[in-house]
Amino acid sequence: MPYDTRHVVGAFIGGIAVTYTIYELSSRLRPSDQQQSHEPLAARPQYKLGIESTIGNTPLIVIKSLSEATGCTILAKCEFLNGAGNSPKDRVALSIINRAEEEGLLTPYSGDTIYEGTVGSTGISLATLSRARGYSAHIIMPSDQAHEKSDLLRKLGARVDRVSPAPIVDQLHFVNRARNLAREHTADPNRAGRGLFADQFETDANWKAHFEGTGREIFEQASAEGGRIDAFVAGAGTGGTISGCAMYLRGKLPDIRIVLADPQGSGLYNKVMHGVMFHGLEREGTRRRAQVDTVVEGIGLTRSTKNFEVGSELVDDAVKVTDDQARRMARWLCEKDGIFVGSSSSVNCYAAVKTALQLGPGHKVVTILCDSGMRHLSKFWKQVNEIGGEDDMTFEELMKA
Ligand SMILES: Cc1ncc(COP(=O)(O)O)c(C=O)c1O
Repeated sequence: MPYDTRHVVGAFIGGIAVTYTIYELSSRLRPSDQQQSHEPLAARPQYKLGIESTIGNTPLIVIKSLSEATGCTILAKCEFLNGAGNSPKDRVALSIINRAEEEGLLTPYSGDTIYEGTVGSTGISLATLSRARGYSAHIIMPSDQAHEKSDLLRKLGARVDRVSPAPIVDQLHFVNRARNLAREHTADPNRAGRGLFADQFETDANWKAHFEGTGREIFEQASAEGGRIDAFVAGAGTGGTISGCAMYLRGKLPDIRIVLADPQGSGLYNKVMHGVMFHGLEREGTRRRAQVDTVVEGIGLTRSTKNFEVGSELVDDAVKVTDDQARRMARWLCEKDGIFVGSSSSVNCYAAVKTALQLGPGHKVVTILCDSGMRHLSKFWKQVNEIGGEDDMTFEELMKA
């Protein structure tokens, strides 16, 4: 068992402290206080320019149920509230487009097309921002991802190819396919504009968006509430979030623990804990599919990426989360807190709780809520049991192995 009597007593005392903190916070943020500023309305800027302005500055919230149960303060950065594609990938897509425009690689309304290989979220952010900036988007994604994402991409006007999962060494792997299509576009004299391969797995624009955005915001938001953060917990799809945030936060808070949340089937847990990317499922003939064997979408890797490598030295620990644990956490968050999120957010929260229990009561743990459960209704959420009723889940049921 990951926790004993010491933890239970500690969690009880910590729970009282956290409940008091939540009470304090709620009374400070009463709706009547939030509604009005005494500054004249006309003196404050009212308009922001375009959908890009809804990206970033997302709230950092206390997850009440998990904080009370662990005696720690569990904070979540609400990245699903980024307003273009509703995930942390908005920051990355904007950063990639801004940089390409600065370097003269993209020209609005010239026929330029952005190509990307993505499990969905990055494609949705790129497709949305392409509309806003005068480009086309062509998205290649593995065919085993939830249909909500490809349906949405098509509604956003992107061209979408769903391709069979393949190993990264195969030119038909969704990332290689996107790179090749961008090259072919640029080389084709009969096509308008050029092709830009967004390259989220390798580009520095990815981790830098989290260094300058997500990581800095977390630090500033936590500083406004007293500063200390004991641990930052996140999964890795490209590695951009965990690397960018780790680099910023470690620079400001040298003692912070950086913890990878890793779904089943991913090789990163072994990479962090044992220095090699090996997993039992990697043995020849045992893999069910070519990517990562999990119902979780968006995180988990079986190969090395520049965006993970750039911050990997800073990752102190990893927590493996099974699909069953992720499903239970998704249900718990909805049942207890009304937080309806997708699979990677559930993995993050499960690992955040494990980290909190390891640290003991009184600590502050920050994680990420990546996207909404609405994007996962046909796959991940289909496997989650009915919510509510008399059989409400207990914390012990949530955390059972
Ligand atoms: C829903 C979701 N959560 C988390 C991540 C992981 O983010 P990162 O690529 O920064 O590691 C992704 C990546 O695509 C994602 O789509």
